[in-house]
Amino acid sequence: MKLTIVGCGVVGSSWALVFSRAGHDVAIYDRSPEAAEAAVAFVASVDPSCAERCRVAADLADALAEADYVQESAPERLPIKQALYKEMDALLGARTIVGSSTSGFPASSFTTGLANAARCLVAHPINPPHLIPLVEIVPATGTAPETVRFVHDLMRDLGQSPIMLTREINGFVVNRLQSAVLGEAFRLVEDGICTPDEVDAAMADGLGLRWCFMGPFATIDLNAANGVAQYCENLGPMYHGLAKEQADPREWGPELVSGIEARMRVAVPADALPERRRWRDRFLARIVEAKQAIRKELG
Ligand SMILES: NC(=O)c1ccc[n+]([C@@H]2O[C@H](COP(=O)([O-])OP(=O)(O)OC[C@H]3O[C@@H](n4cnc5c(N)ncnc54)[C@H](O)[C@@H]3O)[C@@H](O)[C@H]2O)c1
Repeated sequence: MKLTIVGCGVVGSSWALVFSRAGHDVAIYDRSPEAAEAAVAFVASVDPSCAERCRVAADLADALAEADYVQESAPERLPIKQALYKEMDALLGARTIVGSSTSGFPASSFTTGLANAARCLVAHPINPPHLIPLVEIVPATGTAPETVRFVHDLMRDLGQSPIMLTREINGFVVNRLQSAVLGEAFRLVEDGICTPDEVDAAMADGLGLRWCFMGPFATIDLNAANGVAQYCENLGPMYHGLAKEQADPREWGPELVSGIEARMRVAVPADALPERRRWRDRFLARIVEAKQAIRKELG
């Protein structure tokens, strides 16, 4: 299959690795030719044989020619996406499907009125997609059902883990879940209940251990003898009470943020952040490998 990356900074480069390691030919286009070269160099640094399947396209028309699927990963600025989709609309083949990596814009905000809108949707990755498999597939009202199916099957065949949303919603699923957790994390620190390190420990040494291989529903299903319904009967009223206490959204004020910033910079000084990100990616890669090995053994 011919796959194309349009925009290859942080996320597009990682997509180039996802596509090429699955054995596909990948055309790479970026407004900055240096960024396109850097993406190929990144793929080569991980696996030189994957880089042999990647080519830097001469221009946007060359990148889109005969593409089966395009993953757009241009900057998260609506005017940039709108202009780019207009430009692509005039160049797309009759079968080419386009997924956007956008973290927050609904596809309708940059595809409405385009001739090829039925073949466009959001395919939102979690960075970096070559390590984190989840992809949120979010159709606009004008997206054809065949487009949704195509992108779902492609992502699954690439080794990603697609989930399909029935319609556009702010934050999609992942950032809505993250928003709920972050809102409570900031609240607990602001109210002096515990430190940022302790919130992080509650997740890393507590909830997150189960959540990294089974989600919240699968978790609670095993936390009552007879399953989820019994869990809800036992603890539903408690969670409803907590949800009422959490129902006043708060801004993350400057004093609160600077306190958390000071605490985090003790753990990781500003100049050590790039190395810490590399550490995170190495750690993540080991967890993904371990999960695959454990799944093989335990099912
Ligand atoms: N970084 C993340 O954590 C993350 C996670 C998930 C999704 N995303 C989404 O992925 C997309 C890309 O984010 P990023 O972090 O990789 O950004 P980035 O700034 O690292 O990369 C964007 C690239 O697009 C190029 N570009 C700019 N205008 C262009 C155009 N008109 N045509 C082609 N290329 C163009 C830039 O030269 C740059 O290389 C955004 O929509 C973002 O919301 C980012």
